[in-house]
This record gives sequence, C-alpha cells and structure tokens, in this order.
Amino acid sequence: MTTPVANAATPVGAAEVQEIAGDDDVVRVRQLVRAKAVAATKLSLVDQTKLVTAASELARNTLLHGGGGRAEVQIVTNGRRKGVRIVFVDSGPGIVDLDLAFTDGYTTKGGLGLGLSGARRLMDEFEVQTAAGEGTTIAAVKWER
Ligand SMILES: Nc1ncnc2c1ncn2[C@@H]1O[C@H](COP(=O)(O)OP(=O)(O)O)[C@@H](O)[C@H]1O
Ligand SMILES: [Mg+2]
Repeated sequence: MTTPVANAATPVGAAEVQEIAGDDDVVRVRQLVRAKAVAATKLSLVDQTKLVTAASELARNTLLHGGGGRAEVQIVTNGRRKGVRIVFVDSGPGIVDLDLAFTDGYTTKGGLGLGLSGARRLMDEFEVQTAAGEGTTIAAVKWER
C-alpha cells in the first residue's frame, strides 16, 4: 500500500518502498532515490544531489523524530516532464507546531534544526500532513527542468 498524495503528478510504474528502522536504512533510501532518478529521469547532477540530500534529511527525521517508518519512491509525470516523488510516513508523535518546525535552527533533539526547512527549499513541491499523536506524512517532488 502506498500513500495517496494530492498533487498533479501521475505515477509512472510502481513505487518502491524502503522501511526505515535504522541508520543503514537511511543510506538505503539515499541509494534508492538516486538510482531511480538516474534510471528514469533527466534530472541534472545538481538536482539529483538536492533530491538525495532532502531524502536523507527526511529519512533521518522519520527515524529520529518519528520512531521509524517508511519511504516510498515513485517516478511521476505531469505530461510534459518527469519527476521523483518521495514520501515519508511514520506513526510517531506528529509535529505539533509546523511553523516552529520549519524555522531554521529549531530542534527538539539537539540537531541543527535545518533538515525540514532545508529539504523544503531543495524540492519543488512539499506537503506535510501531521497532527499531534497521529504521525507524520511528508510528500515532496523534484521535477526535471
Ligand atoms: N517525522 C517527524 N515527527 C515528529 N517531529 C518531527 C518530524 N520531523 C521533524 N520533526 C520536528 O521538527 C524539528 C525540526 O526538524 P529538522 O529541521 O530536521 O531539525 P533536527 O532534525 O535537526 O531536529 C525536529 O526537531 C522535530 O521536533
Ligand atoms: Mg532533521
């Protein structure tokens, strides 16, 4: 089961799912995202790096703040261009104050507090669904230029 996301992107082929339960899984997410981008899109090297960096930060948050979960990686199209959609799902505590969470430097775990805000800047589309006690789902897309 993959997570439906409200944007104009149409899936191309199947989504790949990577469980996130440990540090090794964060590395696997990075590898999966890069491999799919290279195989199925014309994302530039710079855009691949932005995508993989965002995926890495979001996977780390899923692990650290969400208590683990999963990543879904899906090639999408808007009819003209292709892109890579990454979705992160956890059943953790949720993000209580989203504005605060997106503030550069805000962290509840002694991190740098730049992951969420940075990931949003690196991606073209970025959506968060979360509520206190109800987990967090973040979906983001990087499009070909
Ligand atoms: N999946 C998540 N579940 C719950 N809280 C989260 C999640 N992702 C981010 N947060 C909250 O947003 C804050 C900011 O995230 P981020 O910018 O990545 O900073 P850092 O991970 O360095 O703390 C986190 O400290 C945490 O409180
Ligand atoms: Mg983080």
